[in-house]
Amino acid sequence: MKGVILAGGTGTRLAPLTHLFNKHLLPVGRYPMIVHPFMQMVNSGVQDVLVVTSPDTVGFLARLIGDGHRQGVQVSYRVQEHPGGIAHGLALARDFVGEHPCLVILGDNILTDNLKPYVESFRAAPQGAHIFVKAVDDPTRYGVAEVRGNQVTRIVEKPKQPKSNYAVTGIYLYDERVFAVIDRLSPSGRGEYEITDVNNDYIGRHAMSHTVLTGDWVDAGTFSSMQVANQLMQDCTYPEFA
Ligand code: DAU
Repeated sequence: MKGVILAGGTGTRLAPLTHLFNKHLLPVGRYPMIVHPFMQMVNSGVQDVLVVTSPDTVGFLARLIGDGHRQGVQVSYRVQEHPGGIAHGLALARDFVGEHPCLVILGDNILTDNLKPYVESFRAAPQGAHIFVKAVDDPTRYGVAEVRGNQVTRIVEKPKQPKSNYAVTGIYLYDERVFAVIDRLSPSGRGEYEITDVNNDYIGRHAMSHTVLTGDWVDAGTFSSMQVANQLMQDCTYPEFA
């Protein structure tokens, strides 16, 4: 199992805080934001992690996280030269992931669930894709999953009139076919390669399963949600991240 943390993008919603470097270095609790998804990755048992980030931030992240030896993992870095979308960032992990399954976490996603059991069961039978959803009050901000019975039937990216309150969180498990799916994508109306299009491809092939997260989850990409994340993580410490 390989791990990919996507920490590129422009962070325009957090400007001017993001004029010098991207949002993943801003404080959430006692750590820069990215440390939380990185420690999620470490605690999930994934040992080989690629961080994809923007040119202005890669040096800072390499100084912050290093090669991962303190946490017992191997970390490498890849630059996404322009923010072409989440699926575009993931495509840069193709050679790193190879034929393995992968756990993908967005660098601004803060959560309290332990991902290890899900990673282990996907590792045992790495077929299709698995997403994690969370009931929210403001679904229009997210990819929204339409669920019938125990099946996700469709995901709509930032719908004006959401059909459910299940946000698709930025945590994904994929089999090795994900890169073939990305190859077939076209850019969306906003000019990005969308992870929602990747997920809808899996749904269309009946190859998608999902989990409803029971813990807290925050996408820390706006001023108000960053404050919520800050509060959620205020007492969180990672002894392995001295
Ligand atoms: O947080 C969950 C949401 O994340 C999902 O519900 C949406 O379906 C998904 O599209 C995404 O929406 P956002 O509007 O929050 O995406 P954002 O542009 O903020 O990017 C999320 C993360 O992905 C961020 O940590 C940086 C990374 N990213 C983003 C882009 C556009 C990249 O690494 N490269 C990119 O080109």
